[in-house]
Amino acid sequence: MTPTTALTGIGLLATQDPALGEISDAAVVIDGASIVWVGPSASVPAADERVDVGGRAVVPGFVDSHAHLVFAGDRSAEFEARMAGKPYAAGGIRTTVEATRAASDSVLRANLGRLSAELLRAGVTTFECKSGYGLDVANEERSLRLAREATAETTFLGAHVVPPDTDRCAYVDLVVGPMLTACAPHARWVDVFCERGAFDASESRAVLLAGIAAGLGARVHAGQLGVGPGVQLAVEVDAASADHCTYLSAGDVDALVHSDTVATLLPLVEFSTRSPYPDARFLLDAGVQVALATDCNPGSGFSTSMPLAIALAVREMGMTPAEAVRAATATGAKALRREDVGRIAVGLSADLVVLDAPSYVHLAYRPGVPLMYQVWQRGQRVI
Ligand code: NIG
Ligand code: FE
Repeated sequence: MTPTTALTGIGLLATQDPALGEISDAAVVIDGASIVWVGPSASVPAADERVDVGGRAVVPGFVDSHAHLVFAGDRSAEFEARMAGKPYAAGGIRTTVEATRAASDSVLRANLGRLSAELLRAGVTTFECKSGYGLDVANEERSLRLAREATAETTFLGAHVVPPDTDRCAYVDLVVGPMLTACAPHARWVDVFCERGAFDASESRAVLLAGIAAGLGARVHAGQLGVGPGVQLAVEVDAASADHCTYLSAGDVDALVHSDTVATLLPLVEFSTRSPYPDARFLLDAGVQVALATDCNPGSGFSTSMPLAIALAVREMGMTPAEAVRAATATGAKALRREDVGRIAVGLSADLVVLDAPSYVHLAYRPGVPLMYQVWQRGQRVI
């Protein structure tokens, strides 16, 4: 038997579980990797260890459903130029491809390790990680193999852009053929950048359907640079998530409302590319399921800070703090079609963030301030 741990003295427990809601003066009991009891502190059952958190607020570990962490090189000069007025374009991805191909496994593994440690310090206990900076069979396969060492939520993004000096038809054939065959064993998801400068609707559909036929779940980069076909394509193939959604048509919103596809908003990208923020308020009021993720990547937004994403979603996108926390936890889990994370309830993974604050509102009220007092991942205190 593993020793049980009771987390007591929780001033406010925001479970994100519809049946439990928010509980004041709460406690949570952990056995091994799982939550075995949730309720008021006064009636907490006996446990082997007791950790009193002194009235602090607790939320589920954040679920980051969109990140690009396998890469090498630096694009700070591109960011600097952008801040001086140069627009963001998909083509910058090729700079990272060159550096990634040239890097050894140990360099890529070290970069990924550093970023996943950053995520943990930001309270992220589950994250997704994409390939997409290899863009040939060997480098895409390698990227996913390394990503798999760090997370189960790996995504094949061979269709990120067409690599330089490559015929686009031949490249799509490669992605849906030998590249998919090499990558599928290391991947749970297939993704495509459906955007001007990247892949059009029919190319994107071919990539997604091939991935689905190989047993992968679908997700789509859609509506980042302008209104396009990506969102409706995501809904058409029952993708778990359409990501970015910076630009949406009325038809896109309607399609999302009548689907099981989550709209994953990535405000750190709007921040870092100086783009307009999507109107999360409008989407939520329309009935769209909205998640928040970091999209940590070297080009459009190099941040692992889910708390800053929450603050931006509240300040710039019209979400309430409660909605933003839900989007970064329970709905992030939905965007990965995971039932075991993103909420605090009996039987789920013991992934918890103890905030050095009396309420989760402080995540938006105190932007940029590290509020992670403790982070628990699968029952272990990791921060
Ligand atoms: O999510 N949109 C495509 N991919 C990344 C950006 C990649 C890059 O610029 O390196 C994104 O924004
Ligand atoms: Fe992305």
